[in-house]
Amino acid sequence: MKEILLATHNRYKAEELSALLAPLGVHVRSLNDFPQLQETVEDQPTLEGNALKKAREAFHATGILSLADDTGLEVFYLRLDPGVLSARYAGKNATYADNNKKLLREMLAVPKWRRGAQFRTIIALVGKGIEHTVEGKVEGTLLEEPRGSNGFGYDPVFVPNGQKKTYAEMTLEEKNTLSHRALALQKVLTVLKNLGV
Ligand code: IMP
Repeated sequence: MKEILLATHNRYKAEELSALLAPLGVHVRSLNDFPQLQETVEDQPTLEGNALKKAREAFHATGILSLADDTGLEVFYLRLDPGVLSARYAGKNATYADNNKKLLREMLAVPKWRRGAQFRTIIALVGKGIEHTVEGKVEGTLLEEPRGSNGFGYDPVFVPNGQKKTYAEMTLEEKNTLSHRALALQKVLTVLKNLGV
């Protein structure tokens, strides 16, 4: 059976991506299966740079076709911050709760019509003679208070356009029908199909 390595230790991302890859019938692994591998330092100035760096390092260390996602929340009022720094918005060891708290503080008293934001994911696919990147993007609105307990990161404060629920009020299956990561992964499936994987 063919294999794909998800170049992530993030169990939420791995869960979402594994469910989206299930129809391919490939053996999906993640970096949690390779505890000896060092964590990639995400020091590139763009989502694309970090996604490629993670996928390249995973492929070079294991020889397995590797897929990495780098995602940012881009808030229009904040001139696309926190963007590539989304994981460290409230500081180096910030928790998801710390980051959400900082974001809601920055957006305090900003009216609803100016609370637009987008999640943008870049997925990089790297293998022998293969290097591809694709993008998935979803626009929505930031709430004033978090809602819901599913998912991770900024899920509790983001309502995609056309939806009533935050990502954190959706099941994994619901989020996977419409999310930024799901849109990017659909493009990856096309690339994989063209490569005969
Ligand atoms: P990463 O650098 O791609 O791991 O993601 C940066 C940060 O963006 C994460 O620490 C999360 O806070 C946030 N993030 C990434 N993907 C999602 C998502 O699907 N929903 C909510 N937050 C996310």
